[in-house]
Amino acid sequence: MLTITTDPEVYGPREDSFFLLDTLAHEQLSGRALEIGVGTGVIALNLAHRFHEVVGVDIDPRAVALARENAETNSVTNVHFYFSDLFSSVPGTFDVIILNPPYCPSDGLFPQDLCCDGGPDGRKTIDAFLSRFSEFLAPEGKAYLLQSSLSDIEKTITLLKARDFDCTVLARMPLFFEELAVLRIQHPGFKIHASRYERRNCMTRREEIIQLLLENEMNSLELAHHFKTTKKTILSDLEHIRRSLRNKHEELVVKMPVCNHCGYTFTLTSVKEPSKCPHCNSEWIDPPTYRVVP
Ligand SMILES: C[S@@+](CC[C@H](N)C(=O)[O-])C[C@H]1O[C@@H](n2cnc3c(N)ncnc32)[C@H](O)[C@@H]1O
Repeated sequence: MLTITTDPEVYGPREDSFFLLDTLAHEQLSGRALEIGVGTGVIALNLAHRFHEVVGVDIDPRAVALARENAETNSVTNVHFYFSDLFSSVPGTFDVIILNPPYCPSDGLFPQDLCCDGGPDGRKTIDAFLSRFSEFLAPEGKAYLLQSSLSDIEKTITLLKARDFDCTVLARMPLFFEELAVLRIQHPGFKIHASRYERRNCMTRREEIIQLLLENEMNSLELAHHFKTTKKTILSDLEHIRRSLRNKHEELVVKMPVCNHCGYTFTLTSVKEPSKCPHCNSEWIDPPTYRVVP
């Protein structure tokens, strides 16, 4: 049993925190974890013994300081708390990512309240998280998101399924004026078609990418996971491939990215990934996918 010191300025452990912890108690967890929005640190600290390392971040420096104090009080040494706005200062990839976000639609009740204010529809932090979490999730990793009916649980499920993520509602809990749910989200099980694709030792990574894209339409993240490298490296490979295939019998075809919020379709002339929609400013953009056509 941990001793968790609270502070009136920092979100203290309550029903949603305990519901998330109870749900995670039934999950198989290991490796390296990231918790976003740690508050007092109650979740990260309670789960610490199940991971070799936990990184906990919060946008509120008071929360980071309190979580560090709670780690020290309980002599937990494998959890490291930092300041970060969502993923802005988060290094590397994680086997597990956890978020209990601020999800109350703003109605003047919680002005500037980092713990509760989720913007006009309650989805500000949720949508920003959904637009980026997959870059930080290991290929076999699992993300856990606590959501409330106040911020449209079904919308999250529909959006994730449209992007082929595997999304399961692990538990639901009715409260007085809302329902809570814990979602488990995993990368789509991408299966590589391999009738012609055969890895040969003498192949360079770029040659191998061409072989893969002759039979598979893939995005840069899927390629990065396949080659165990970064998206940046893959994007530079793709740009090189695009140029080198010009005037040959094959061509790199890019399926343009689409904004999930307003439906705007980008027009790109090189291999790059837009981060914001020029129409509505949303960051939830379906990434471009790539194919090589003979
Ligand atoms: C609902 S509280 C959850 C606290 C704790 N995880 C728990 O379950 O008891 C949400 C936390 O997210 C933090 N937060 C809000 N926006 C954030 C952001 N953009 N990046 C990181 N943390 C954020 C808040 O400061 C707050 O501590």
